Parts: sequence; C-alpha cells; structure tokens
Amino acid sequence: MKALTWHGKHDIRCESVPDPEIEDGRDAIIKVTACAICGSDLHLFNGVMPDMHSGDIMGHETMGEVVEVGKDNPKLKVGDRVVVPFTISCGECFFCKRGFFSGCERSNPDPSKVTKMWGNSPAGLFGYTHLLGGYSGGQAEYLRVPYADVGPIKVPDGLSDEQVLFLSDIFPTGYMAAEFCNIQPGETIAVWGCGPVGQMAIKSAFILGAERVIAIDTVPERMALAQRSGAITLDFRDEDIYDRVMELTSGRGADACIDAVGTEADASASWDSRIDRIKVATFMGTDRPHVLRQAIHCCRNFGTVSIVGVYGGYLDKIPMGSAINRGLTFKMAQTPVQRYLPLLMERIQKGEIDPSFVITHRASLEDGPDLYKTFRDKQDGCIKVVLKP
Ligand SMILES: NC(=O)c1ccc[n+]([C@@H]2O[C@H](COP(=O)([O-])OP(=O)(O)OC[C@H]3O[C@@H](n4cnc5c(N)ncnc54)[C@H](O)[C@@H]3O)[C@@H](O)[C@H]2O)c1
Ligand SMILES: [Zn+2]
Ligand SMILES: [Zn+2]
Repeated sequence: MKALTWHGKHDIRCESVPDPEIEDGRDAIIKVTACAICGSDLHLFNGVMPDMHSGDIMGHETMGEVVEVGKDNPKLKVGDRVVVPFTISCGECFFCKRGFFSGCERSNPDPSKVTKMWGNSPAGLFGYTHLLGGYSGGQAEYLRVPYADVGPIKVPDGLSDEQVLFLSDIFPTGYMAAEFCNIQPGETIAVWGCGPVGQMAIKSAFILGAERVIAIDTVPERMALAQRSGAITLDFRDEDIYDRVMELTSGRGADACIDAVGTEADASASWDSRIDRIKVATFMGTDRPHVLRQAIHCCRNFGTVSIVGVYGGYLDKIPMGSAINRGLTFKMAQTPVQRYLPLLMERIQKGEIDPSFVITHRASLEDGPDLYKTFRDKQDGCIKVVLKP
C-alpha cells in the first residue's frame, strides 16, 4: 500500500510499504477514506520529538471502512464506517475504566524509556514517537487498529467523512480545552493559537457558554476564521498581548486562558523566546514555552490555564510564583478522545457544529509531503489539510 513515511527532519515521503495485518484478536484493519495532517505531526516533521525511526508511517487523524476484523472483536463488522481516535486504549485498565483513555497503561508496549523521562507512560499513540509505542499511523491506504473493540466510533448514516473526521483528534481536543475552563455565564476565555485546535477551542468555548473569546495569532486568514466564529482577535506581532488582554478585561485578566500552540511558539522578538531558542539549540533546554508563560500572566486571579498545545520535556522559567500566589488552576492532557466521542457525535448530528469549517486543502496521499510544508509554513491560506487515499 501507499503511505506517508518519516525519514528525518523535514523529510516525509509517499512510498510503498507492506499492507498491515491483524496481529491480535481485538484488531481491525480499515481502508482509509480520509485522513488529516495535525499540528502534532509538525512537531515530528520539524524534528522536535525524539525517537522517530526512519520509515515510520505518519498520521493519527484517520477514518475509513472496516475491511477485516479480528476473531475477538464483537463490536465491528466488515463494511462499518468508523472514525479512529488518535489515542490507543485497552478499555480495561485502571485508567481506561475511569475514562482517562489517554493514560491507558497497557497500550504502550515498551514504557521503559518514556517512564525515565516522564515518571510514567501514557497511552500509545498512532503515528507518533517510539516513546509512545511507535504504532504505524493512518496517513496511508490501510491502518491496523489495535483494541478496535474500544476506540473506533461508528458513523451514523447521513454524515460525510469531512463532518466526522476531526472526532479523531482536534474536535475533542478543542472541546476538552474549553471544558477545562469550567465556563460560567459572562466569562471571557482567551485562546492562544488559531490553528485547527484553537479554532475548535473557540467554537467549543461559545458552545459551553463563554460570553467573549479573545483569540491570539498572527496569520490573517486564521484570525479571520476565528472572527467568523465570533472571537475578538489580537495579533501577537503587532500588539502587546498582555496589555490588550488587560484592557479588554478591566485589568483583571481572562477568566481562563487556553494554550493551543505548544512547544513551537513563534515569538522571535521576545527575550524569553530568544533564550529558549539558544537553550534548545545547545541541548541545554527542551521546549519553547513562550505562550504558556504569557497565558499564565494574562489569567485572572483564581482563573484556569488550560493547556492542549503539546510540550515534550523540562520547561524553563514558568512563572510559578504568579500561579501559586494568584491561585491559578492548571488543567492539561493529551485528549482521552474516546471519552468525548458519543457526546460530540451527537453535537454534530444535531447541527450544533460542523467541524469541517477548518478544511482549506483536499488532496491525495501523493500530495501529502508537499502539503506538510504548506501547512507548516501557513502558505496558500492553509489551515487544515485532508488527504483522501
Ligand atoms: N493535547 C492534545 O491531545 C492535542 C491534540 C492535537 C493537537 N495538539 C497540539 O495542539 C497544538 C496546536 O495544533 P494545531 O493543529 O492547531 O497546529 P498549528 O501549528 O496549525 O497551530 C498553531 C498556531 O499557533 C500560532 N502561534 C504561534 N506562535 C504563537 C504565539 N506566540 N501566540 C499566539 N499564537 C501563536 C500559529 O500561528 C498557528 O496558527 C500543537 O502543539 C499540537 O501538537 C494537542
Ligand atoms: Zn493531533
Ligand atoms: Zn487501558
């Protein structure tokens, strides 16, 4: 089959690889009908996540049609249309039973390395680092889905691929980011990043009752899309974000701040970001948490900082003094996608949201390598790429 494979920093190829096979009775194989490129894939493309291997199959936002089912999987049958969560979860362990699917303690087959780094292992993920299982991803013609009796959700008749594809990741992620904010009537939520995840967070914040959303980015078409969802936008290149957020919130700060940017924040002009860049380049540091620092400062006393942008290691100069003295709550996670699927599928069915509003580029798998660059560089108005193998 054809698949998009990783061959080092800035080197994604579309090449022929062996077809996946059932390896366990609970597996299923799906024929991919649509898959997408995520901001998390860019961390791999840019070489900032360790332990990728040459030839790894990329992709963790995938849906398709079931073509083969393992003997111990009573849930799926050949011909079902399903969306596959990016988190691989057994459904039976301590964490899965409590709904913390992205904390599954059985789906990472080799937790030893990541345990040294993070103290414990979260769930295995599709198309991601070998620290988290090294599972083949879904930017491919076929995908093996482990624990396929737990993760995939069947698509009801009448919904198109594009309407439901983002249930695999960015819709639940943006929704969780807003849910973390425990939004009360009249509240203002600030969202850093108007990428696909930020866009889902903005829509979800309004769905969950926010009165105002302040959305921060610098890319004009992304800010315009945020405005169409009802957000007030700020440009981090032209405006002092702290001053503007204070101005808009009677000097108190936003009730909650969502970081939908993560480790690769663009903030070349700021002193903290310059130090981060030097530290990362000289292996003295791991991440560039400029947005997280700013979000903490812009959050009102006893507000919430909700983090869904991904970080990898040990972060420097996080203003914990500000956070503890002002009573901030931190909430963060790789999304336990399975937990949100029934509820969010229902919201799509009822027409409360159509997540396809972020799609700007539709193409074949062969165009994937070029579109990684287009998406990363925000060229050609690119906000979200969907590939149809
Ligand atoms: N927690 C999860 O489960 C989960 C799931 C999906 C994605 N993610 C993470 O979410 C993040 C966003 O993903 P995406 O697909 O939207 O990616 P993206 O790269 O398209 O979007 C990031 C956006 O942040 C903006 N940005 C950069 N620097 C900024 C700054 N200083 N202030 C404000 N905005 C800034 C960029 O212009 C861009 O529009 C990534 O880190 C990704 O890994 C997490
Ligand atoms: Zn993702
Ligand atoms: Zn589990």
